[in-house]
Amino acid sequence: MRIAVVGARGQIGAAVVHECVSVHETVAFSHQELDVSDDRAVAAAMARVKPDVIVNGAAYTDVDGSEDHPIDALNGNAFAVRALARAAETHGAALVHYSSDFVFDGTASALYTEQDRPNPRSAYAASKLLGEWFALDAPRAYVLRVESLFGRAPGAGPAKGSIAGILNTLLAGEAPKVFEDRTVSPTYVIDAARVTRQLVESQAPPGLYHCVNSGHCTWLVFARELARQLGLEPKLIPIRMADAPLRAARPQYCALSNEKLRSIGMAMPDWQDAVARYLQHVRDEVTH
Ligand SMILES: NC(=O)c1ccc[n+]([C@@H]2O[C@H](COP(=O)([O-])OP(=O)(O)OC[C@H]3O[C@@H](n4cnc5c(N)ncnc54)[C@H](OP(=O)(O)O)[C@@H]3O)[C@@H](O)[C@H]2O)c1
Repeated sequence: MRIAVVGARGQIGAAVVHECVSVHETVAFSHQELDVSDDRAVAAAMARVKPDVIVNGAAYTDVDGSEDHPIDALNGNAFAVRALARAAETHGAALVHYSSDFVFDGTASALYTEQDRPNPRSAYAASKLLGEWFALDAPRAYVLRVESLFGRAPGAGPAKGSIAGILNTLLAGEAPKVFEDRTVSPTYVIDAARVTRQLVESQAPPGLYHCVNSGHCTWLVFARELARQLGLEPKLIPIRMADAPLRAARPQYCALSNEKLRSIGMAMPDWQDAVARYLQHVRDEVTH
């Protein structure tokens, strides 16, 4: 199978390249090599590669910046996906696209399923929802909602995101500030990449899937577990969302059910198990 991965140096993109490169012909495009918001460049690149699968690891991920730059968010997260979906249709390729828990308003009190109605509350979230709709126009599209990503595959850019920040602060012996009232289902990029490969290799029904590790936690509980597994005293500063100076609204309760993936034989490991593998990977990197 020939797999084109765009946004290939991002957290997910690099993990997918790492997962697929030894099994499939994998053509990776960094941002520099292909700007997915350039429709013509996308069409030309895909006409050259003629992929069986297109994986979209590219996104405009600046949640707060999207409030000031909504057009950039729409171009990167929605219109770019339309171009990729068109290319997928032209070449008879499957399309894998990643979306976000942010499409929900976070007012639920039980796990969100794929049937629950989105209600985006920020420019970033609206652009991600539109991207889902464009992706699902492709004849064989897998839209995977991921959340609070952590982990870093070889080839990825520098580690970023809240969880890398918490880890680095803990390792520096300092106390990270963590939300005690935001509930998430964290997603280990290595597990999301494995599911990506399994979906495109199988005859799994296309559509929308919640692709998060099993279980859910507040950021405070997540940080405590990180510290526990590191053997560190959990010096943490709990904060509340209402007290944080966030430009864009974030959903407060956003645990996602991954039951639909489980029902097609792709169970996701618990987030605590994913943390253990993540920390082992970090230790291996330090010792090599
Ligand atoms: N990170 C999370 O916690 C999280 C949570 C929920 C959903 N998601 C979704 O998961 C997906 C992957 O996120 P991620 O954390 O892996 O993102 P990431 O690490 O920021 O990677 C995104 C990649 O896309 C590239 N990119 C940006 N604009 C581009 C463009 N116009 N053309 C081509 N490449 C472009 C970036 O390159 P540059 O760095 O050079 O700009 C970067 O390599 C995204 O769809 C995101 O919305 C992420």
